[in-house]
Amino acid sequence: MKIIRSATHFGSSKKASLEICRQVLIKKDSVLGFATGSSPMEIYKYLIQYYKEGLVTFKQVTAFNLDEYVGIEKTHPNSYAYFMKDNLFSHIDIDINKCNIENGLADDLEKECENYEKAIDSAGGIDLQILGIGTNGHIGFNEPSDKISAKTHIVKLTQSTIDSNSKYFSDMQMPTKAITMGIASIMKAKKIILIASGKEKAQAIYDSVYGEITPKMPASILRLHPDVSVYVDDEAGKFII
Ligand code: F6R
Repeated sequence: MKIIRSATHFGSSKKASLEICRQVLIKKDSVLGFATGSSPMEIYKYLIQYYKEGLVTFKQVTAFNLDEYVGIEKTHPNSYAYFMKDNLFSHIDIDINKCNIENGLADDLEKECENYEKAIDSAGGIDLQILGIGTNGHIGFNEPSDKISAKTHIVKLTQSTIDSNSKYFSDMQMPTKAITMGIASIMKAKKIILIASGKEKAQAIYDSVYGEITPKMPASILRLHPDVSVYVDDEAGKFII
């Protein structure tokens, strides 16, 4: 695990975005794994900027997102599909038909999970996966647990996740389930970038970098991967360096 520390989240995001650009410049038809949430937002702003400046094109890129709520329309502002369109895809030249996200409205959700995993494999696997981290060490919607859920699967959201995200759902009840790539789906990516900022992430970062490797701290499992870069700002990295 490589730790890359910057004074600010902007610094971390800029460095991480340059690594993503490098990936796409080396391999134009890269398969990128995207995350939602506040952590990667600045990265996405830099990617949009670099695209607009003509530094990079995403024309041949294929995208897979980590997770999506169950029971929500793709067009709903709280869906992760909408988030990606709004914060990245509609601002760059990526082919929207190559942007994959789990369908939380599928009639057969188990089949949807299976198909998603197959789609990742038939695209040749993810070249670079972007991750955020929860304060409890979750990655995707893989919450702390006694066992690892390896593949794309359905999760019942924890009460703390529901409590912290329900404020964003003004016109509907917050979904209680989601589909997420599993730990093995994430670990199969050739390269992983995790970005964390703020003091509330500091303990999870410390435990993931130095603590026991355990599904109780899902991000700690990333230490078993040969190519992981963890981008932290001073606050998120305060216990580790
Ligand atoms: C989002 C995701 C989550 C977030 C994590 C951190 O697709 O998979 O694991 O990365 O909850 O969220 P933020 O970045 O909002 O602090």
